Amino acid sequence: MKLDILLGLQWGDEGKGKVVDVLTPRYDVIARFQGGPNAGHTLEFNGIKHVLHTIPSGIFHPQKINIIGNGVVIDPVVFQKEINKLEEMGIDPTQNLFISRKAHLILPTHKWIDAMLEIQKGEQNVGTTLKGIGPTYTDKTARSGFRVCDIITPDFLDKFSVIYKKHSDLLIKNGYNPNEDIETAFQTWFDSLQTLLRFKLIDSEYEINRYLKEGKKVLAEGAQGTLLDIDFGSYPFVTSSNTVAAGACTGLGVAPNQTKRVIGIVKAYCTRVGSGPFPTELFDETGEQLRKQGHEFGSTTGRPRRCGWLDLVALKYAIMINGITELVLTKADVMDNFDIVQICTQYQIGDELTNRFPAEITAEIKPVYKKMKGWKQNLSLEKDYQNLPREFKKYVAFIEMDTGVPITIVSTGPDRNETIIRK
Ligand code: IMP
Repeated sequence: MKLDILLGLQWGDEGKGKVVDVLTPRYDVIARFQGGPNAGHTLEFNGIKHVLHTIPSGIFHPQKINIIGNGVVIDPVVFQKEINKLEEMGIDPTQNLFISRKAHLILPTHKWIDAMLEIQKGEQNVGTTLKGIGPTYTDKTARSGFRVCDIITPDFLDKFSVIYKKHSDLLIKNGYNPNEDIETAFQTWFDSLQTLLRFKLIDSEYEINRYLKEGKKVLAEGAQGTLLDIDFGSYPFVTSSNTVAAGACTGLGVAPNQTKRVIGIVKAYCTRVGSGPFPTELFDETGEQLRKQGHEFGSTTGRPRRCGWLDLVALKYAIMINGITELVLTKADVMDNFDIVQICTQYQIGDELTNRFPAEITAEIKPVYKKMKGWKQNLSLEKDYQNLPREFKKYVAFIEMDTGVPITIVSTGPDRNETIIRK
């Protein structure tokens, strides 16, 4: 059996959590491969909304195995809160959630350094989620990070002291004072490690490869989106990990030749939180309508998301980088009331038209749009693709024709049931 990968093709918030939840019955194992509590995967069923930050979206299916891979960064305090919420719901995640010993830990000081760097960047700030993601990955690549396996080693406190000193020296040197009590923050952090230790800590690369050999179906779940990838995103306004399909190999320890389907999640329009270029961003009433209708407010930070039309230049770039084999179109219902919908098919830079997503996106880029008639119908009431409005099917067909990739699932609402799987 080979690994399937599911990831976002835009700037995150494409609705990956819901799609993983819908697809989980087809898999035995769901494994998160990168990112950390900067993610907020929203799932809705039985009228209740659930937001997961670190835990894979298969956790609501008790018979499925969920793995937090080595590529993930874990804030044990956030993790503890997530676990508490699940336990309050009567779910016992200790039986089917395993954690890689190689995953790195976020310390309170990582969050403060994140905030400090953002202040230092001034107007050029990234608009991070302030969850300590960048500084934790920085420590990982600087070979001074703190891993899950370190908690259970005898020299745990020595390792901790080294990293703590490094961080506090940096914060003091830069005159940064956290707006929370340092001692309390660390006490809470140390206490939360106990929750982490209630889980089976595993060498996830061995386990996942074993599952695949045994014929089990494994789905790698991405966080954020392709355009936030550290290498291929709109640098420097990106996150600090590889969000692309290759990241599933390094973030789980699975070889590229052991991967198969790469499922790309694309929202019917675009959104972005934080700073950075966004060629199809709308600053008018239509943008506001997308935000309101789509409830486009961050599930991790609550920030309003910037909204704009679907961008096929960026989408085709993401499809290429990830080797996407099929697309899932989400939140199409958000545009149910629109008279006209637009899709960006090319960028105009000066006098030139281009199909390429450039390394440097500047204000000079003007999106070229194809205008299409809106479908003016409530999509979420329909269960059969054939019965969907003609204009909507034209919208879908245009995306498929331009990208050359089939749209196999259409999500027409936040609930598990509001999903149309095409035959
Ligand atoms: P960081 O990942 O917190 O360092 O933030 C870097 C950039 O990625 C910022 O623009 C964030 O708003 C964005 N970002 C991080 N995680 C997510 C996510 O899950 N959804 C959407 N944007 C995100």
